Amino acid sequence: MKYVIGNWKSNQNLTESLIWLDGLQSIKPHFSPDASVILCLPFTDIAGFNHKLSDLEMPIVTGAQNVSHLAPGKHTGEITANMLAELVSFCIVGHSERRREFAETSEMVAEKARQLLENSITPIVCLDLPYLDEQIKELFQKNVDVSRCYFVYEPISAIGTGHPQDPVEANHVANQISFLIDNQAPILYGGSVTAENVKSFVDQNRIDGVLVGADSLEPTLFAGIINSLS
Ligand code: PGA
Repeated sequence: MKYVIGNWKSNQNLTESLIWLDGLQSIKPHFSPDASVILCLPFTDIAGFNHKLSDLEMPIVTGAQNVSHLAPGKHTGEITANMLAELVSFCIVGHSERRREFAETSEMVAEKARQLLENSITPIVCLDLPYLDEQIKELFQKNVDVSRCYFVYEPISAIGTGHPQDPVEANHVANQISFLIDNQAPILYGGSVTAENVKSFVDQNRIDGVLVGADSLEPTLFAGIINSLS
């Protein structure tokens, strides 16, 4: 199985997200049974988007991009895993933008992954060099079942720059991650993935899919990536 995960980041309100869905529907991408398509949306889009998605019967599964590391309680403004459980099957945690802009630590990221698993949501755990060891060690320390997570290697130099990492080098790091998690889970690559380069990543022996930022925002570009895998 191959995986294409879109990450809209802080883009598109609900109205725009529904227009995006109409756009994708009119392009009619070829959804292969061997490729799973997941779209990680802003919290505010998820319920309305899911509703329209089920009307269209399009084989896309939705995810969130963040979750609280805290359990339900007195935490004004926090969105807990328990709340997300009714809406999504996946949630990104530990994206480098959150680590950098919101001072998220590896300990918080591991706690988020634990909260998600307790609520039957698959964590999509983002990892980057040179912190891999510490980021993964913290998951084990919090007793996170890594076999129930997906992992994404996202070199910071490749995110949003138009300069993807060399696929062979990315595969080398994916193998390092695989070793650290006892080869138990899917490992994806993220950073300037396009319809033109996606195959060069997923054809590597330890890269199971891609996390796509900018090119998930345009239905034509995202459809191109889905079609490249079919
Ligand atoms: P990009 O973003 O595809 O725009 O480089 C990837 C990501 O940050 O998830």
